[in-house]
Amino acid sequence: MTHTKTNGLFLTFEGIDGSGKSTQCRLLSDALQRAGYDTVLTREPGGSPGAEEIRRMVLEGDPDKWSAETEILLFTAARRDHLERTIVPALAAGKVVICDRFADSTRMYQGLSRGDLRTTVDQLHALMIGREPDLTVLIDMDPTKGLARAKARKGTEERFEDFGVSLQEQMRAGFLGLAQEFPDRFRVIDGDRTIEHVAADIQATVRQALS
Ligand code: ADP
Ligand code: TYD
Repeated sequence: MTHTKTNGLFLTFEGIDGSGKSTQCRLLSDALQRAGYDTVLTREPGGSPGAEEIRRMVLEGDPDKWSAETEILLFTAARRDHLERTIVPALAAGKVVICDRFADSTRMYQGLSRGDLRTTVDQLHALMIGREPDLTVLIDMDPTKGLARAKARKGTEERFEDFGVSLQEQMRAGFLGLAQEFPDRFRVIDGDRTIEHVAADIQATVRQALS
């Protein structure tokens, strides 16, 4: 694992809606804190005041309010603010940043779901973000089960889960494809087990990366 730009460690969680990312981010943060690490738990879209404002713009209201291209710009704008205000300062202070979703989600949701816009996503990423996580935990999960979990905690946000199982199947395959594209930083974890089993697996994977 390389730490060319900072001293901290940048960990991201990816996977379809309901796969257990938020749950596992919290559990990992708690476990690392108990082990003496200084952690920052954050999420996308969001993670800084400006990016949380953009989150409300993209996830609430009419899902067709933005074109696919405009949505890429909004998610990337949120990410740029999050990076500047939250992630980079925390890494520079030597902290472990644990982020619930990052650029891989844009590669999937905006890059695949409404036509093939992956190149546009990657070009904008190179121009405005230019940084990948040190380690990405992909929680892999049967979409039918993930959707059932996600629906159980439904709030006011418009999420991709509302687009149904076939899109989630496409996203699952897409995420597994990304793991093959970036094998150095991706670790695939089977999410279809108890919360405790998944957490233990993730902790072992991350400790190995930290050592
Ligand atoms: P995500 O952030 O990936 O959408 P969450 O962590 O919010 O997923 O989990 C979605 C729901 O499923 C929550 O109600 C959570 O308590 C539950 N959940 C998470 N992991 C598991 C698991 N391994 N087994 C059963 N339920 C789970
Ligand atoms: P999130 O709160 O992580 O949803 P969940 O807990 O259900 O997984 O993310 C909200 C939604 O935003 C989710 O449906 C995926 C979508 N999203 C994108 O479309 N592009 C992105 O770049 C990101 C970060 C999220």
